[in-house]
Amino acid sequence: MSTITLNDGNTIPTLAIGTGTALFGKDATNAISLAIQVGFTHLDTAQAYNNEDSVGEGILKSGHDRSELYVTTKLWKLPEGTTVEESLRESLKKLKLDYVDLFLIHNPLNHPDLKGLWKEFEGLKEKGLTKSIGVSNFQPVHLNEILEVATVPPAVNQIEYHPYVFTASTGIIDVHKQHNIIGASYGGLTPIVRAPGKGIEPVLDKIVARIAKDVGHPVTQGQVLQLWLRKKGFVTVTTTSKVERLQEYLVVHTLPDITSEEEEEIDTVGGKVHYRAFVSILFVLYHP
Ligand SMILES: NC(=O)c1ccc[n+]([C@@H]2O[C@H](COP(=O)([O-])OP(=O)(O)OC[C@H]3O[C@@H](n4cnc5c(N)ncnc54)[C@H](OP(=O)(O)O)[C@@H]3O)[C@@H](O)[C@H]2O)c1
Repeated sequence: MSTITLNDGNTIPTLAIGTGTALFGKDATNAISLAIQVGFTHLDTAQAYNNEDSVGEGILKSGHDRSELYVTTKLWKLPEGTTVEESLRESLKKLKLDYVDLFLIHNPLNHPDLKGLWKEFEGLKEKGLTKSIGVSNFQPVHLNEILEVATVPPAVNQIEYHPYVFTASTGIIDVHKQHNIIGASYGGLTPIVRAPGKGIEPVLDKIVARIAKDVGHPVTQGQVLQLWLRKKGFVTVTTTSKVERLQEYLVVHTLPDITSEEEEEIDTVGGKVHYRAFVSILFVLYHP
């Protein structure tokens, strides 16, 4: 599994299997165990998905050592009188782990005091309860707020990212670049799964044909979308209920990069369409 080095020196595997959409609120034991057995090392869960417990079961069932894995979880809301440390310790108990690799603030709108929250996150990293700290669904205004007080800047911002939010994401990508924050994409397959027929398919098909010819085996539109994310320096957080799709996702690391011309064509054609599948309220409130 290829990795990216984060701004805190830790490395993150570039492909993660998530338990938040298809597996939301469901028992993830078998899905996680299977994903690990076929080669996934990066597992993405969250308190809000209500399945950290079964993610922990899946890790145990896989028989793989914890040290081979990279586990991300996310803080949801903090009930009155609870500290972030207590909340993370509860997640660790469910996951049956001593630490997570990455702990994220799931949604900035859940927290009235982002600056204070971030200082608590820094304390958790200091204590070794999480190796890295980051955020999710943050817009420039939220990142700038915590960057004012951060001793440790966020390592990752997990956001919806694909060609149909390419244009709308220009501002946040600029902030990522300024502070060496790595983007992690969820919903990356949206142009073919949730919003088909909006114009990107002919571009993807052209690249599919070029790469298939070069590598000598079939390639899919989904794999090309993942290659676009890789070219953008993003981590891909995806999911599937099908074992053959797990393999399809994993094969991407053996494929060559898309060219700069191919990247630009996806940017241009995708950038003319706007389709956001998740958490649109954030963007109604904050998109300039
Ligand atoms: N931080 C956040 O706020 C947030 C929000 C949303 C998601 N996430 C994380 O990101 C993970 C992945 O999210 P996502 O579901 O949006 O990922 P995605 O990669 O955009 O979509 C994955 C889905 O696409 C389907 N799929 C893949 N290839 C397909 C094809 N060729 N034709 C039709 N369907 C296809 C899969 O279904 P099959 O089962 O049929 O393969 C799977 O359900 C979540 O589980 C969660 O961990 C985070």
